[in-house]
Amino acid sequence: MSASASVVERKPERKKVLVFRELPPDQLARLQALHDVTVANPRKPEERALFDSALGQAQGLIGSSYPVDAALLARAPRLEVVSSVSVGVDNYALDALQARGIVLCHTPGVLDETVADTVFALLMATSRRVVELAQLVREGRWTRNIGEDLFGSDVHGKTLGLLGFGRIGQAIARRAALGFGMPVVYHARRPVDLAATAPELVGKAAHVPLAELLARSDFVVAMLPLSGSTRGLVNADVFAAMKPGAIFINGGRGATVVEQDLLHALDHGTLRAAGLDVFATEPLPLDSPLRTHPRVTPLPHIGSATHGTRHAMALLATTSLLQALAGERPAAVYNAAQA
Ligand code: DGY
Repeated sequence: MSASASVVERKPERKKVLVFRELPPDQLARLQALHDVTVANPRKPEERALFDSALGQAQGLIGSSYPVDAALLARAPRLEVVSSVSVGVDNYALDALQARGIVLCHTPGVLDETVADTVFALLMATSRRVVELAQLVREGRWTRNIGEDLFGSDVHGKTLGLLGFGRIGQAIARRAALGFGMPVVYHARRPVDLAATAPELVGKAAHVPLAELLARSDFVVAMLPLSGSTRGLVNADVFAAMKPGAIFINGGRGATVVEQDLLHALDHGTLRAAGLDVFATEPLPLDSPLRTHPRVTPLPHIGSATHGTRHAMALLATTSLLQALAGERPAAVYNAAQA
């Protein structure tokens, strides 16, 4: 027998992949070409049983907006990789993943500009009362020129304070400083080396202590990831320390804010308005006062929800999953230790 004849040609192993939130057809097709794929969304009662049975066999998981907690992971003994179609990883039991050596991938970078656009939409909407005044027109209440009671406040030239200054925070800062002439201050665990990461913001964005940021900012924008140290960070003390008439925007995670304290600051404090893309419980419960408060502009967590960006996120998450299942280092891995 020749040496070459003894070489057994191995096909790459087809693995079991569970897609737990719908993927665009082209990305689903990439997975199906290489692996055995089950699509089952556990939030849909009619797909729950299929999800549960596929979970026991799954080597790869991909999806978003569902808690992949320790109990769920315990039901997935063969799991090698989880790929989240989100940049935030607060839905994942990081310690359990780490302990099992399961790779976690996510989607940093591809959504920064879109989320920054959404946050700016909230800045504009809250300060110029866009939703409220559009409603006035729709309801046929525009019967004479609006009075001062319906005037808004300026955005340009006002001070923007950012809680959190990662990639998305920097994208917001660029819009504010370069487009709207706004002085930008930020508070983060440590100052960012702007010359290296965002040279266009040198001299335009300054790291300041939290108390100074709250006292100076006309807009306080929270872009915090959710973790043990940020949960409930924006509380009554923080609202009380804000400049009178400030506007609060949350584009990070809802549970970083104590929502009761936010309501209190709106009703009994000096907070002018709030623009919220995220909530402690999503979808926002019907009985939440934040849903109908006249000075709250609520959005249904649409930070990254454009066709182009959601597709880019799905593509990156799918690529990372395929790479990890093939034993390669994924393009966007969160828990690098295992990859
Ligand atoms: C994320 O990717 O974490 C965002 O919240 C999605 O909009």
